Amino acid sequence: MLLKTALLLVLVAQVLMLDNGLLRTPPMGWLAWERFRCNTNCDEDPKNCISEWLFMEMADRLVQDGWRDLGYVYLNIDDCWIGGRDASGRLVPDAKRFPHGVAFLADYAHSLGLKLGIYEDMGKLTCMGYPGTTLDKVVQDAQTFAEWKVDMLKLDGCYSTPEERAEGYPKMAAALNATGRPIAFSCSWPAYEGGLPPAVNYSLLAEICNLWRNYDDIQDSWDSVLSILDWFMQHQDILQPVAGPGHWNDPDMLLIGNFGLSLEQAQAQMALWTILAAPLFMSTDLRTMSVQNMNILQNPLIIKINQDPLGIQGRRIRKEKSYIEVFMRPLSNEASALVFFSRRTDMPYRYQSSLAQLNFNRSMTYEAEDVYSGDVISGLRDETNFTVIINPSGVVMWYLYPIKNLEMSQQ
Ligand SMILES: *[C@@H]1O[C@H](CO)[C@@H](O)[C@H](O)[C@H]1NC(C)=O
Ligand SMILES: *[C@@H]1O[C@H](CO)[C@@H](O)[C@H](O)[C@H]1NC(C)=O
Ligand SMILES: *[C@@H]1O[C@H](CO)[C@@H](O)[C@H](O)[C@H]1NC(C)=O
Ligand SMILES: *[C@@H]1O[C@H](CO)[C@@H](O)[C@H](O)[C@H]1NC(C)=O
Repeated sequence: MLLKTALLLVLVAQVLMLDNGLLRTPPMGWLAWERFRCNTNCDEDPKNCISEWLFMEMADRLVQDGWRDLGYVYLNIDDCWIGGRDASGRLVPDAKRFPHGVAFLADYAHSLGLKLGIYEDMGKLTCMGYPGTTLDKVVQDAQTFAEWKVDMLKLDGCYSTPEERAEGYPKMAAALNATGRPIAFSCSWPAYEGGLPPAVNYSLLAEICNLWRNYDDIQDSWDSVLSILDWFMQHQDILQPVAGPGHWNDPDMLLIGNFGLSLEQAQAQMALWTILAAPLFMSTDLRTMSVQNMNILQNPLIIKINQDPLGIQGRRIRKEKSYIEVFMRPLSNEASALVFFSRRTDMPYRYQSSLAQLNFNRSMTYEAEDVYSGDVISGLRDETNFTVIINPSGVVMWYLYPIKNLEMSQQ
């Protein structure tokens, strides 16, 4: 009886979380979609069309410009790579744009210390109209991806019914597991069901997916960043607890390096996505990135915060009448990340606060490192008043850590 109970407990424990051992911290890398979309015009635009050549160029940049060594290791294909299915129903890539095939690209990525991600869609067609993965093709497609040595699958949800998705996503998770190859699983499922309970069961998602898209696609504009942020904040009581090591909310790609964001806004997206413990998928032309944007994306302290091993998603903790918002993410070693964000449109704002006002109450002395400027603010106690100067649509981000426990030292 005891043994039976123990076995049962083991089984129960196993079904609680997706157990492929992957993505204990949010994935980092490059994903084609936001910047390169479904550009298949290789005749007129050979340098920017979706082709194996584009992915090899980005792979080279990831290595040569230091991205890989900072953790940006995923090189992810999105829609518009598929040529069709062969006589046995097996997926084949577009022969003209991917003449050497996906296995060749995976080998190329692996030879450089990178990982290859691929895209399919749970439905009749992908969102751009290429052959999708219908329920009867789930097992075969999972096996094909494993044979090609793919490392991540993003499974979109166009052209299917809610019932087909409810059957298909768990079926794909099981099929990927059955291949024996560890393949990270990115599910667009919740975004197709409105992103909220009861239509979305986040406990189930955490059992079958490593990350999931909750909400709309990001577009190359600040409005789009704000609409995503607003939705995540409006529902943070639901979304914050469901994220953790191996299973992440995904507010979608970083726009940094593209056309829609100012420098302040680029810093803000990076800071806010890091508070959200979001995947860091760049989607930009790595061949033409400015030094300023590179400095944001390659900031070692912000990457360390994003990749904190506790994997706790942060929250918005203040929403002031002055249009200043404060966000906090708890980190390992009793540290925290704080982001002071301005929605103002007038001029730099002097925001006064204290750690006590931000609910810190631990009788510690803290030090804060300003993540973007590198300045260090020492001797912060709970009641110390401080002022941060926040630019319109910009952030000040702090890495805050205790240096002395006052109660202990008084004993
Ligand atoms: C498959 O699932 C089992 C049980 O959750 C897990 O131990 C194993 O690592 C998984 N294998 C792969 C390849 O994902
Ligand atoms: C959500 O999924 C979990 C895990 O599969 C299951 O135990 C639970 O009953 C589901 N909740 C609802 C409301 O369906
Ligand atoms: C300290 O803060 C925590 C979390 O913010 C809160 O739960 C706790 O009640 C606070 N303690 C005191 C003494 O105010
Ligand atoms: C901090 O500022 C508040 C007013 O905002 C003031 O009441 C308080 O005395 C100040 N604390 C210190 C330690 O200066």
